Amino acid sequence: MAEIAAVILAAGKGTRMKSELVKVMHPLGGEPMVAWPVQAARAVGAVQSVLVIGHQSDKVRDYFAGAADISFAVQDEQLGTGHAVACASQALQGFSGQVFILCGDVPLIKSETLQAMLAYHKSRGSVLTVLTTHLETPYGYGRVVKREAGRVLRIVEEKDASDEERSITEVNAGIYCVDAPFLFDAVTTIANDNAQGEYYLTDIVKTAADRGLICVSFMAREPAEVMGVNDRVQLATAGRVLRQRINEALMLGGVTIIDPATTYIEQGVTVGRDTVISPNVHLGGRTAIGANCTIEPGAVISGCTIGNGVTIKAGSVLTDALLHDEVSVGPMAHLRPGTELKAHVKIGNFVETKKTVMGEGSKASHLTYLGDATIGREVNIGCGTITCNYDGVNKHRTVIEDGVFVGSDVQLVAPVTVGRNSLIAAGTTVTKDVPADALAIARTPQVNKEGWKLKKRD
Ligand code: UD1
Ligand code: CA
Repeated sequence: MAEIAAVILAAGKGTRMKSELVKVMHPLGGEPMVAWPVQAARAVGAVQSVLVIGHQSDKVRDYFAGAADISFAVQDEQLGTGHAVACASQALQGFSGQVFILCGDVPLIKSETLQAMLAYHKSRGSVLTVLTTHLETPYGYGRVVKREAGRVLRIVEEKDASDEERSITEVNAGIYCVDAPFLFDAVTTIANDNAQGEYYLTDIVKTAADRGLICVSFMAREPAEVMGVNDRVQLATAGRVLRQRINEALMLGGVTIIDPATTYIEQGVTVGRDTVISPNVHLGGRTAIGANCTIEPGAVISGCTIGNGVTIKAGSVLTDALLHDEVSVGPMAHLRPGTELKAHVKIGNFVETKKTVMGEGSKASHLTYLGDATIGREVNIGCGTITCNYDGVNKHRTVIEDGVFVGSDVQLVAPVTVGRNSLIAAGTTVTKDVPADALAIARTPQVNKEGWKLKKRD
């Protein structure tokens, strides 16, 4: 086995979330909370991560299904962090490298910090390195009791601490780097004779000290990194920190974000250089946006692939759509799944598309529904056009070939095909195929009754 593994504690329910959903599965930056420490473990080189699961274990398993580097240890009863790690030891049998112990509810930990912690662990010849931080109000955290030169003697929990120990401001972040052979031996020695009647993982610090082994602390520079999420106020705080990191990485990569505080971009979204993102934009679902695009205020874009030089105007909602270069969408357009817009397509205000492909240079500028349609190149779709794709039972396709001009207020009753370069007169309900180069017109002829208004008055 390779050198690094991780154990991620995620069995707790998270009572203070006051939720039907287990805490570690609450969404944060587009992923469940627990995905963040898992990602940090991967980034520091963990070849295997064991998730200790309990409450709603199926939800956690489902999310990680198919990930070869993830395994699970079920902890049916949450008897304490020491018991949780003991549950994981089976899954790491024979492993002799370093184990990072992380918490599923401490999502902001950076892999850079873990990397530095590992280097320090090795340089000090430590068997156990505890990540710590200084907190002005250390209430609730385990306090780090030291001897000299960073050597840790023990960690004492709030409820078990003396007044003198409570005055210590260096706290245990709950993140550890431990030599595996020591860890799996030490967890078997933990007892639960403490104020909470729990098996405290922190007791392994004393075990190391008693055996004359080296146990050191490593200080996290940024206290936010080790912040635990226990309630929804902290969930929002963590979300803000993650968003800031994502936005900063994009800005340093050449994207203009006009107001990062009100720009909501999920992990996994990519944006090309010189694209400008306005306030109140939401980008998620692994959306990829090209270079030189303009994303106007209030755009909500999820699961989309967008080319270069594209403009998404204010208030547009795009889901699972594919947009080629130089497309323009909106304002207030709705592109639904299965939409593909080829280069230079223009979609205007109050246009909705679904399972629709539009060829190069085609336009639907106003007030239109295009569902289950295949539209060729250089087609003009007039204002108020509707594809009548649903007969109450089945959906049917509309095909509009290259160069067609569809006048305003046209209904296309699918299945129907409109041949190339033909013209559909305004107000027409198209119920049968139109041949190429034809004019289709279906209107009740207009009658003008001369003087009718005057007679009515008499
Ligand atoms: C723990 C530490 C404390 C530290 C604090 C940092 C112990 C005894 N104390 O306290 O020193 O300052 O974290 O946040 O470890 N969990 C399980 N199974 C269990 C118990 C817990 O999976 O049986 C999980 C929880 O879901 C959570 C994590 O372990 O993700 C930490 O448990 P929690 O009960 O929050 O520990 P604290 O009391 O906060
Ligand atoms: Ca906690």
